[in-house]
Amino acid sequence: MNTTLKHIHERSSIRAYQPEALSPEETDLLKEAVLAAPTARNRQDLRYAFVTDPGLLEKIDERIFAFCDPDMQKNMDERKSTSFFYGAPLAVIISGKDTKWADLDAGIAVQTLALAAQSMGLSSVILGMPRLAFQKDDPDNCRDLLSLEEDERFCVAIAIGRAAAEKTPHVGNPDHIRIFD
Ligand SMILES: Cc1cc2nc3c(=O)[nH]c(=O)nc-3n(C[C@H](O)[C@H](O)[C@H](O)COP(=O)(O)O)c2cc1C
Repeated sequence: MNTTLKHIHERSSIRAYQPEALSPEETDLLKEAVLAAPTARNRQDLRYAFVTDPGLLEKIDERIFAFCDPDMQKNMDERKSTSFFYGAPLAVIISGKDTKWADLDAGIAVQTLALAAQSMGLSSVILGMPRLAFQKDDPDNCRDLLSLEEDERFCVAIAIGRAAAEKTPHVGNPDHIRIFD
């Protein structure tokens, strides 16, 4: 198996991190990796907020918890986490103009970051829950904190850092492949 395939197979969502910050070199490599992700018609409409400020992540967490349903709250209790970023030293929040391609572009960008992190010996977890902190109709939303423009919306996020826990990658189901020979 080549190293790219190895990283694809070894990646797993990690939900506990060491507090140690990433080095500036590591952060730069991640920035360059996400900027290399393709976008539909090369529009490059996505924006990537690299957040290391714990105070900012706390404010976003607070707003997510305000809208978190009982099921998700139970999940978080089971995971023994008081943060949707699980203590990771870096969160990348991906936003974009509200176009039909934004979520596809963001999905590609976020997996590019996950695999780049994996290849650097780092771990990650992709995050959809932070969307609750950026709802336009919530007067206390966190949009201004990340300088989101009026026509921009949250797409997806990812927490990245050094793992403080292990998790076996999920098992893929071969039945989900449809063969047409
Ligand atoms: C679009 C998307 C959103 C996700 N949102 C969250 C989230 O908000 N919180 C979380 O802990 N995990 C989140 N996950 C991680 C999934 O739960 C995880 O990928 C899935 O359980 C499979 O596990 P694996 O990544 O370890 O293979 C998300 C994953 C994806 C692809």
